[in-house]
Amino acid sequence: MTLPDTDSAERRRPLVVAIDGPAASGKSSTAKWVASELGFRHVDSGALYRAATAAALRAEPDPRRWTEDGVLAAAAIVTLVPGERSFEARLEGAPAEEELRGSAVTSAVSLVAKMPRVRAWVNDRVRAAAEGHAVVVDGRDMGTAVFPKARVKIFLVADPWERAKRRLLQRFERLPTEAEIAEETDALVRRDAKDEAQTQRASEAVLIDTTYLTQREQVERIVALARSVMR
Ligand code: CDP
Repeated sequence: MTLPDTDSAERRRPLVVAIDGPAASGKSSTAKWVASELGFRHVDSGALYRAATAAALRAEPDPRRWTEDGVLAAAAIVTLVPGERSFEARLEGAPAEEELRGSAVTSAVSLVAKMPRVRAWVNDRVRAAAEGHAVVVDGRDMGTAVFPKARVKIFLVADPWERAKRRLLQRFERLPTEAEIAEETDALVRRDAKDEAQTQRASEAVLIDTTYLTQREQVERIVALARSVMR
């Protein structure tokens, strides 16, 4: 009797590197860098939640009036456009990075992320982007709900103060003051609480605490892990 060669089938499956973690844990910048080191494509699932939220805000500026059907209808203006190494979420065909990263979207996005059909809408798009390509995907539930069979699963964590500092450095392009970091830390901790149900750590995920790591160090660890399973 010949047994199915599951091992080699496993090796042929396009590689998915799933990076999850809480707000501002460095998932997207790390995922982008890892993708470029490995020659994979980067898919940022958070950008799709942000794009659906921005579209909903354009249609109805008061989130208290949002319904799941309304958000899904508004999200029809969102497209995920492939680039050479990544995908860009666009609104009405136009880049909208500033709008997606702005404070109006950041404060309303967790509300949208709780809507089950919006989650299914995002997941379908992320899975379609990964079809036929090796990808590095980042989010909150990539290694659980979206790619339970991902061959590399990482969960990034970092101290909230450090996360707040990094996020502000990125936003201001200067060193933030202690008061600014304290305020941002509060906002991050509040968003972590709102996102708690959506943030799932796969039991087999490799936990990396980046508080005392440079970005290069965390990228190197993930790249080394991915190379070891690709061999
Ligand atoms: O700012 P940060 O890097 O934390 O967030 P993001 O990756 O841009 O995601 C924005 C928001 O989308 C999060 O606060 C979550 O509410 C939601 N999200 C989610 O629920 N599941 C994902 N897989 C990715 C993002």
